[in-house]
Amino acid sequence: MTDFSLRTLLDEHAGEELDLYAQTINPQFVRMLRTIGFDRRWVRAEGAHLYDGKGRRYLDMLGGFGMYNVGRNNPRVRAALVEALELETPGKVQLGIGALPALLAEELLRRTPESLGRVLFTSSGAEAIEGAIKLGRTATGRTRVVSCERGFHGNTLGALSADGVPQFRDRFAPLLPGFSQVPWGDLDALDAELRSEEVALFLVEPIQGHGAFFPPEGYLEGAQALCRRYGSLFAVDEVQTGFGRTGKLFAYEHWGLEPDVLTVAKSLGGGYIPVGACLFRTDVFDAVFDSLEHSFSHGSTFAPNDLGMAAGLATLHVLDDEGLVERSARLGELLLERTRPLVERFDVVQDVRGLGLMWAIEFGEPSAKRTSWRLLERVQPGLFAQLVVVPLFSDHRILTQVAGHNLNVIKILPPLTISEQHVEAFASALEQTLERAQKLPRAMMSFALKAARGGRRRAVRV
Ligand SMILES: Cc1ncc(COP(=O)(O)O)c(C=O)c1O
Repeated sequence: MTDFSLRTLLDEHAGEELDLYAQTINPQFVRMLRTIGFDRRWVRAEGAHLYDGKGRRYLDMLGGFGMYNVGRNNPRVRAALVEALELETPGKVQLGIGALPALLAEELLRRTPESLGRVLFTSSGAEAIEGAIKLGRTATGRTRVVSCERGFHGNTLGALSADGVPQFRDRFAPLLPGFSQVPWGDLDALDAELRSEEVALFLVEPIQGHGAFFPPEGYLEGAQALCRRYGSLFAVDEVQTGFGRTGKLFAYEHWGLEPDVLTVAKSLGGGYIPVGACLFRTDVFDAVFDSLEHSFSHGSTFAPNDLGMAAGLATLHVLDDEGLVERSARLGELLLERTRPLVERFDVVQDVRGLGLMWAIEFGEPSAKRTSWRLLERVQPGLFAQLVVVPLFSDHRILTQVAGHNLNVIKILPPLTISEQHVEAFASALEQTLERAQKLPRAMMSFALKAARGGRRRAVRV
């Protein structure tokens, strides 16, 4: 018998990571990382920091697209995982049950409106959306699903059918029939769709992750009322906004909503284990699992698994015990206080918005340097935002992202464990970066144009 050592394996391949990934997984992604200079060799992470192979520390304001609310490699979640391994818990019996799934379900239900009474565990956010669609349609006896333009719900075919970003969706057509999107914020358009009384569910993010668009006043409350009027399920997708991200445990709390269906994932697994869940109104779930024959109506081999459940229980405990939801609200306020003045200060900054630690800055055509701006936009809409993201990373070692396809928006979803100093560091780095970027210096312009043109896909014959 020979020993297996992960450490040895990693040491043997140190420095080969990007090439190996390009050879075996996704060469275009590696090409993109190299083009924009994000091709670091990542070796370690802790809390809100990532470390590269040269020992340099980076502040992670991207938070794995919102999966590290309790911080990277959280020691308390890790301890729960180690404990679960040491306990040699039964895992998935399949024809039988261990204690952990119901314990986590109980904790989730305790934190959500009373109307929600059943939990379906999944292994991802998209799979939670699939559950919402599948069970929602069967329970209501209706087939149509309405969602919002610009919305994002995942990459599996059902979730993708509900996505409202044509660039993500349309290449993969044909998608599921019976799906349509309404403009975000338009209650009349929603009314026009729902009044047919053929719509099983209206699927909506409380804040749209793609672009970080906030709901107009009264929109979500109005949408819930329309769902009630026409018998459609009000399905709220909190995969990105959940678990303290917006300064409440769930974003729907800001508007006093009572979803019939609630999807969660990302941070529930503490950043360690993929875990998602779809919470249902009891009668909705029971309408599908309505007999012995139907007791197996929907499921997924690995969900719920014991390590995922242990991570979920520990994550909820850490969020409560360390007051991370309140911290998110407090630091979000500070971040807005520090960054809202950028709208006045820089012509190119159109908007700064945020709730808790979901924060975004939007750029628009400045009155000076119009020709350069238009050139960038013509080559690739949203390119200016890259001119901020890249130096934030290369000069200030801060990881951020452009918030969506062709959008001049940068969004951050940092771990909720960041400190006041991190907020200050981010705000001042952003200010310095904008100072330079808004002048659109020649070096930046040529980098951007080269990167955009170099990144163009070549047509592939298959
Ligand atoms: C609002 C929303 N719903 C669903 C998903 C899909 O989640 P996953 O990537 O875990 O499948 C995402 C992912 O970003 C999301 O932001």
